[in-house]
Amino acid sequence: MGLGIENQVAVITGGASGLGFALASRIAKEGAKACLFDLDREVLKSAARRLGTASWTRPVDVTSLGSVERGVAAAMAEFGRIDILVNCAGITGQTNLKSHEVPVDDFDRVLATNLRGTFLACRAVLPHMVVRRYGRILNVASIAGKDGNAGMVAYSASKAGVIGLTKSMGKEYAESGITINAIAPAVIQTALVDRMPKAQVKYMTDRIPMKRCGTLQEFADMAAFIVSPANSFTTGFTFDLSGGRAVY
Ligand code: NAI
Repeated sequence: MGLGIENQVAVITGGASGLGFALASRIAKEGAKACLFDLDREVLKSAARRLGTASWTRPVDVTSLGSVERGVAAAMAEFGRIDILVNCAGITGQTNLKSHEVPVDDFDRVLATNLRGTFLACRAVLPHMVVRRYGRILNVASIAGKDGNAGMVAYSASKAGVIGLTKSMGKEYAESGITINAIAPAVIQTALVDRMPKAQVKYMTDRIPMKRCGTLQEFADMAAFIVSPANSFTTGFTFDLSGGRAVY
């Protein structure tokens, strides 16, 4: 049985690579249109080539209010609706550092991308969902936001912020036909993980009880359900995708 998202329009921030692209490919197969917002124009071009007419791309910097608002306005002008928003844009900043060693501008950059960026995209898309009394929002958090990873203070704090934001927003729009959830993956091999120090990646993978990383397919399958109409009685919740690391 299909997911029931054919002809729906999904905005995916950070959608040109990694988890966002995996989900874009998954929902494109279901007949949805994937609007990819990303900072990186080169990966956007390659994503557009790979997805073809199922995709629509737009360079957007999620840390910038104007850039996010212009991106959402352009998607609305093109499609007239946004059914799904997935906030996937994210960075780790410098890791494998003690908190007192973290440069303050690096801390600010991580918070601006992961937390502020998620807020700005929700803020820009929600009014359009409210009018139609339908929407599915998925914010990509992390196990780091639940447990707190040593060596990743900014990232962990930003993802804990995303989980808190999701809880608040879920309640605020609970009667509007809009569900707002988060997902907390452990490690899934992407460019983001490739860029991290090996010691930091080992710290994270050693803590996964299944003793393996998650796969892009596992992320895409769970995320696709969360943004589908079938996910209708769960909001403000953080879904687990951690191979047994989080049992709460
Ligand atoms: P990735 O690096 O492959 O993809 C992230 C995308 O976000 C990139 O295409 C990048 O250009 C884009 N981006 C970065 N800053 C941006 C900005 N200011 N505006 C617009 N786009 C921006 O990384 P990955 O692994 O796919 O990560 C996606 C999300 O999943 C992130 O929020 C990350 O924190 C989260 N996550 C990833 C895990 C993993 O193990 N890969 C585990 C838990 C969470």
